[in-house]
Amino acid sequence: MSSTQRTFPADFLWGAATASYQIEGAVEEGGRGPSIWDTFSRTPGRTLGGDTGDVAADHYHRVGEDVALMKELGLQAYRFSIAWPRIQPTGRGPANPEGVAFYSRLVDELLAAGIRPVATLYHWDLPQALEDEGGWTVRSTAEAFGQYARVVAEALGDRVALWTTLNEPWCSAYLGYAAGVHAPGRTEPAASLAAVHHLNLGHGLAVRALRDVLGEDVPVSVTLNLHVTRAATDAPQDVEAKAQIDTVANEVFLGPMLQGAYPQRVLTDTAHLTDWSFVREGDLELIRQPLTLLGVNFYSTGRVRRLEDERDPGAGPRPDGHGDSATSPWVGCDRVEWLPQPGPHTAMGWNIEPQGLVDLLLELHDRFPGLPLMVTENGAAFADEVSPDGRVHDVRRVAYVHDHLEAVGRARDAGADVRGYFLWSLLDNFEWAFGFDRRFGVLRVDYDTLERTWKDSALWYREVIRTRTLLPVEAAADLPVPEPAGSPTA
Ligand code: FCB
Repeated sequence: MSSTQRTFPADFLWGAATASYQIEGAVEEGGRGPSIWDTFSRTPGRTLGGDTGDVAADHYHRVGEDVALMKELGLQAYRFSIAWPRIQPTGRGPANPEGVAFYSRLVDELLAAGIRPVATLYHWDLPQALEDEGGWTVRSTAEAFGQYARVVAEALGDRVALWTTLNEPWCSAYLGYAAGVHAPGRTEPAASLAAVHHLNLGHGLAVRALRDVLGEDVPVSVTLNLHVTRAATDAPQDVEAKAQIDTVANEVFLGPMLQGAYPQRVLTDTAHLTDWSFVREGDLELIRQPLTLLGVNFYSTGRVRRLEDERDPGAGPRPDGHGDSATSPWVGCDRVEWLPQPGPHTAMGWNIEPQGLVDLLLELHDRFPGLPLMVTENGAAFADEVSPDGRVHDVRRVAYVHDHLEAVGRARDAGADVRGYFLWSLLDNFEWAFGFDRRFGVLRVDYDTLERTWKDSALWYREVIRTRTLLPVEAAADLPVPEPAGSPTA
């Protein structure tokens, strides 16, 4: 059988991903200032069970242990994010030495373990002080982000293998400022479009800052959650509905970042909300910067049709599992209806359709030839159970990762230049509005003791990395659990 199993080339990069607010905890230590997620999660009713990232997976205090686990897992790269309010507690000014020291230690331990550090500058934890001045809806936040990038580059630049400016600006702009289900929890559709632009501008300024400090060759990327949406039928109005979603969700970032222009369609579709006068002369040149690669986060797909009848256009947001709200993240798309997707679904309610990843990677390859791609997040939440034997036999997670790695392989076979894969996530963690209820980790975190244990998915992924071979899902149940580092061997 093994001869039929898919293998990956030696230069394909195997990683796992996390984000600062989701794992670190220690929100009041090391001189860290408050972020919008502290404020949001402490506001009653905002997160499931009132969960906050105050402790999270306690990674701040367990860096050594966690890097040892990564090494045991065989990771070649680790994608983490830097909490802006640890580096600049109010979003501006000189670097906070304790904040720098924390990430410096992390990077040094990764390098000592032979793991490449992949650093994301912004994974949603905006300093609260900047939100108090308007957050991403105002230009000064983009400018502050550029300065922050410079400060981080000066502190860690020589040791980071790949930089990512923003993680999923779609979520920051639309879930944060239109749907209000993410921090800062605002429901202002017009302001969310200003946020889109200032995130784009912040990206451009950050790329420039990184290159100013570290030289033109420094590897820089951005990570987008491009939505793979299908039209419910071939009818022109449904195809049109899909195009509308593609524009407001995807092209509004791809256009400025990679092509130097906003799509005309988004300007028209949102003309009743804003005249886009926040886009200033020269911004588009700033935003369009050469990138080393494009990071792609992929979880599920969607299906839409044109809403032609009298049904309530505000019938609700896409059931994308990011929370409930009366307000839609689909700004300017009132006459688009999201249809339920056939299963199977994960615990997020997201459908599982690996073909969507094949299609996405191939489309990006066709549209942007010469721009390498990296899957910077992919993974699944399921209601894990600890078996009587003490193990978590998370076979559905193994199958999910297996099938998406197969999808990456198929896209590569068809020519897509996909350089690597980062599993979301290394550890169970704070899943934003869903708190600790949704577990994405391949390592289980016991939230009472904060102990980490290996799920079958971690054991399986370790073997896949070691052999560069897509092992069958069934192999996962029989793999031995590694001895904790430092423990006596038999
Ligand atoms: C992505 C986020 C990540 C995590 C996964 C499940 O949208 O980037 O932080 O929440 O979804």
